[in-house]
Amino acid sequence: MSNVLLERAGAVALVTINRPDKLNALNVETVSELGKVLEEVRSDNSCRVVIVTGAGDRAFVAGADISEINPLSPAEAEQFAQRGQQVFNQLENLGKPVIAAVNGFALGGGCELALAASMRVAAHNAMFGLPEVTLGVIPGYGGTQRLPRLIGKGRAIEMIASGKLVNASAALEMGLVNQVVDARLVDEKGELQTDAKGRPLFDRDLFLQEVDKFARQFLKPSAAAIRIALNAVNNGLETDLVSGMQLEATLFGEVCATADMKEGTLAFLEKRTPQFKGE
Ligand code: COA
Repeated sequence: MSNVLLERAGAVALVTINRPDKLNALNVETVSELGKVLEEVRSDNSCRVVIVTGAGDRAFVAGADISEINPLSPAEAEQFAQRGQQVFNQLENLGKPVIAAVNGFALGGGCELALAASMRVAAHNAMFGLPEVTLGVIPGYGGTQRLPRLIGKGRAIEMIASGKLVNASAALEMGLVNQVVDARLVDEKGELQTDAKGRPLFDRDLFLQEVDKFARQFLKPSAAAIRIALNAVNNGLETDLVSGMQLEATLFGEVCATADMKEGTLAFLEKRTPQFKGE
């Protein structure tokens, strides 16, 4: 499973798309490996938060693999899109927070992967875009649906119809990312380190440490309550307000069947720290 790496640091799982020589472009094999890794982290209750990133210092994921799109027939293309959508839906509905740690280009399928995550933390060098129309295609891994839901229809159409890229600070301003990390490499004197072309070097360790800090805020609350809250947000957004409210009430009932609900509320009343079991 060399195209997708899985590492664990306690309750936090780090999933790395690992094709750096192709800027982590998602070929069919990689999408399929990602699906298997996601199933592994989903079924592991000791894993509480998932971080997804790209190998190397240039790209999160530079898109679906264009060499595999070119020969597709229309029927094959539909299946190709459905397979990617299925794996990205799996990511969205993992039942635990998923954070896209966007290091560099997040284009096409890479942007769509980030959009399927629960949240996005971008490095200073992140570039987001759905440049499919510039290749004569359209986004097929959920981009036309998730981007307008996240940033609104007008801005989404501007990005989708132009194919233009937006940098980390613009992405923050439009609500596309939750946080931006300045991960430029500095030496011990605090001086910026650059490559031969004068471009700042990327401090991967610093970036992942900051994303890890962001991830750890989701470890303290009840994992069961978080899972149910994610369900309410994900499924409630896909319906009208009245149905969404009913879903919320139903899930409020469900969460009150958990041991964590009894423990969390009792701990408050007894003025002590709750001991959640995630069930
Ligand atoms: N699919 C397949 N291969 C890709 C790829 C993709 N989406 N994105 C990058 N690569 C490959 C390049 O073909 C190149 O491979 P090679 O060294 O074997 O020729 C390698 O990754 C490095 O990319 P390169 O284009 O040389 O880097 P760059 O710094 O000049 O440009 C990008 C970086 C991201 C601007 C450019 O790679 C690009 O535009 N990629 C496609 C983005 C895209 O349209 N994605 C949506 C796909 S639907």
